[in-house]
Amino acid sequence: MSVHSSANIKRITTHVLQEMKDRGEKISMLTAYDYSMAKIVDAAGIDIVLVGDSASNVMAGHETTLPITLDQMIYHASAVVRAVKRSFIVVDIPFGSYQGNSSEALRSAIRIMKESGAHAIKVEGGAEIKESVVRILSAGVPVMGHLGLTPQSIYKFGTYTVRAKEEAEAEKLLEDAKILEECGCFAIVLEKIPASLAKKVAETVSIPVIGIGAGGDVDGQVLVMHDMLGITQEFKPRFLRQYADLQGIMTEAFTQYIKDVKNKDFPNESESY
Ligand code: KIV
Repeated sequence: MSVHSSANIKRITTHVLQEMKDRGEKISMLTAYDYSMAKIVDAAGIDIVLVGDSASNVMAGHETTLPITLDQMIYHASAVVRAVKRSFIVVDIPFGSYQGNSSEALRSAIRIMKESGAHAIKVEGGAEIKESVVRILSAGVPVMGHLGLTPQSIYKFGTYTVRAKEEAEAEKLLEDAKILEECGCFAIVLEKIPASLAKKVAETVSIPVIGIGAGGDVDGQVLVMHDMLGITQEFKPRFLRQYADLQGIMTEAFTQYIKDVKNKDFPNESESY
């Protein structure tokens, strides 16, 4: 399958992502939550844009991902969809809109697809949400799984520490990955687990495995945009590589602007009509 946008740019699809895994090309994925940032990251050539429920943290300032609503996720996703020409767009189904009720899960997934125009949804969990995953997939909606440190379960874990270090949890994670693959998920995100376990998962399942804090032996990597750009400075886990200091650059620009306004330096004659 090949899908072309109006500008005749070859879009990334689930099929393209599978081909990338099969030939050993790593998949790049970043979050975006608004039009302007999504436009920049898409033009840079990212393969997958994730409209993550981390919007709850970095856009809305909540401590966890739990408070963000389906309506708010659709708002963010719609803005991203308007900007993106090439990347594959995945949207997180938020906490409380799919767990424990497969009819509601299907309704939520369909609302995201219909109202935002995104290409796929992401769910957190394995065996316990199998019924919801199957139901969503049966409607033709591509599903990305998410295992390991699943932030929607943070109050069950009690801590953001590395998951699946113990054998029992590692075994369950591997089983969950196989279940998600058997259901028909097109990819799985693994968050904050030992690199050796992530490698085993990526070798066991045939679908792409994208890691965040899961080492380099997986099929791709994902980071939260605000963290890798250094907009958020208070969150610095070991797995995060900070590619810029946008907080520093922005603070310098803002303070210079304030100074210029106070000093009557801005606007000057050429900046006036
Ligand atoms: O919401 C999010 O940003 C995510 C990534 C951390 C994978 O789920």
